[in-house]
Amino acid sequence: MSSLLAETADPAPLQQFLAKQERIGLLRFLTCGSVDDGKSTLIGRLLFDTKLIFDDQLATLKRDSVKHGTVGEDIDLALLVDGLEAEREQGITIDVAYRFFTTDKRRFIVADTPGHEQYTRNMATGASNADLAVVLVDARHGILTQTRRHSFIASLLGIRHVVLAVNKIDLVDFSESRFAQIRDEYARATRDLGFLSLTAIPLSARFGDNVIERSARTPWYTGPSLLQYLETVNVDPAVDVQPLRMPVQWVNRPNLDFRGYSGTIVSGTVRPGNRVTVAASGRTSTVSRIVTMDGDLESASAGAAVTLTLADQIDISRGDVLTNAKDPISVADKFDAHIVWLADQPLFPGRSYVIKLGTRSVSGTITHIRHRIDVNSYAHVPAATLGVNDVAAISVSLIAPVALERFADSRNLGGFIVIDRLSNATVGVGMVEAITPGSTNIVWHDMAVDKESRAALKGQRPAALWFTGLSGAGKSTIANLVDRKLHALGRHSYILDGDNVRHGLNRDLGFSEADRVENIRRAAEAARLMVDAGLIVMVSFISPYRSDRDAARERFEAGEFIEVYIDTPIDECRRRDPKGLYARADAGQIRNFTGVDAPYEAPAAPELHLHTTQADAEVLADRVIEELRRRALIT
Ligand code: ADX
Repeated sequence: MSSLLAETADPAPLQQFLAKQERIGLLRFLTCGSVDDGKSTLIGRLLFDTKLIFDDQLATLKRDSVKHGTVGEDIDLALLVDGLEAEREQGITIDVAYRFFTTDKRRFIVADTPGHEQYTRNMATGASNADLAVVLVDARHGILTQTRRHSFIASLLGIRHVVLAVNKIDLVDFSESRFAQIRDEYARATRDLGFLSLTAIPLSARFGDNVIERSARTPWYTGPSLLQYLETVNVDPAVDVQPLRMPVQWVNRPNLDFRGYSGTIVSGTVRPGNRVTVAASGRTSTVSRIVTMDGDLESASAGAAVTLTLADQIDISRGDVLTNAKDPISVADKFDAHIVWLADQPLFPGRSYVIKLGTRSVSGTITHIRHRIDVNSYAHVPAATLGVNDVAAISVSLIAPVALERFADSRNLGGFIVIDRLSNATVGVGMVEAITPGSTNIVWHDMAVDKESRAALKGQRPAALWFTGLSGAGKSTIANLVDRKLHALGRHSYILDGDNVRHGLNRDLGFSEADRVENIRRAAEAARLMVDAGLIVMVSFISPYRSDRDAARERFEAGEFIEVYIDTPIDECRRRDPKGLYARADAGQIRNFTGVDAPYEAPAAPELHLHTTQADAEVLADRVIEELRRRALIT
């Protein structure tokens, strides 16, 4: 049986399915709309009328329709789709269902996303691979706010072809003028969304008009039925005539005689003898062989998973991108992008995230939210943070340059995901809009006198001692003692203290999570300059968030950053309460007080873990000095 009806939200079967099928003849589409618009009925109709529903499912459906259906004796197709959804929901919560079906002309994958309030997030997932969106509207209601929202997100996610399915045309008496009115209004509303094709089809999902076959009840409509259209529409962006792009997934080195670079070609064509360039280094070589499981190839194009061998031994690692020598790709560490935020925890500018672009994962920050976009009105709104389902224009800065393209030019190399460092969850999906020109040319200005010689003159190696712990834990007390001891030893040190820095450099910051992210970022930058000046700097900030401390660590060279956890139980801090702040926080007079109504994330693996209840400050300060000696930072 040729039936490919299957449904899953687990990507593995989907990938297997894709791997088995050639790209030609496959259309991936997304349906946008709600059950009220008839979305489930339409999908059910497509599956049902292409005869791809298994017989036993059909029997159940008939029974259920009679039991629960809202359409009398007819089969309620919505029950089919919704029933599948209910089944799925017994397992883990899944937001996108993929349904596979096939006709003589084409294979289809429909991404179907439930239309509740998490819509933006689900749609972002479902749309990420789709070539086309079927936007449903109810002919009685016309274009609604949600229609604009769905269209905007589809456009944002790179969908360039839209079918406007004007459903329930039977309920407006198959009116040509009503159809034309909706079609024109939609075209106006989406004028700026960059769709390459927009096809409006009047249909009735419930009765099947213009779904599979043209309907006699809309004689004024001369276009194709929905299925006819889906079977023939050309959405192929002709990826094989584009420049060669092959992100290297792994370096295949089974023995000393063979070194191949494996990956999936995302655009273009490669042949033995072609000159290729490695994006990161700009080094060039010639392709010797295209190796696959089924023997060598004479050429390979977009979609093919291959292993290339090169004529020269050049340095290539996972995450590099191979390109034609004449069409190199941009390599940059700064870019502007659009983002859809997926997580309940907010996005904070300045916080360190893992950014996965192509096959590369690097640390980076969203330096700036340029504006949030109201997905209903498309208005630009200022924003300091983003919440779940928010869409925004942002600027991104990575700690290392990567090969990338604009999303408009390549979904593969211009799309990225944002991963939370602690939970490993995907918290955002992004689309590169503009690569900051010359961003990799802004190099650290090498000074005539370098860090090593500055430090050598002081008889030490520079370092940042990062003291973290609750308010009242004893950070400043111990840092002060260490400072005094270093001074007595003739060493050059300095203290950056949260309370003090908040009087000047960070005067504009409060204690919200967003402000704390920025507080720590600036403290880390200031400390980094001091380390560059050859100093041993003690940074004494609560710094309650692990990801922000990790981001600070990344700004230093290996061995320069020493995290010192000043571990004092909250009850003890409360008992000491040197500034009377716990009493005020407990009385509700101070908000967001760490340990009271704001979190403290203890270090997982600090270089030094000091328990202040087990030894006095003097002893602990000596422990720090010992550690500096042990690390040969001082002698
Ligand atoms: S951090 O969380 O952003 O790292 P930082 O170390 O700069 O904090 O400042 C903490 C100091 O600010 C505390 O020692 C305390 O004196 C004072 N403070 C005032 N309000 C708060 C608050 N809501 N939470 C924590 N500390 C506060």
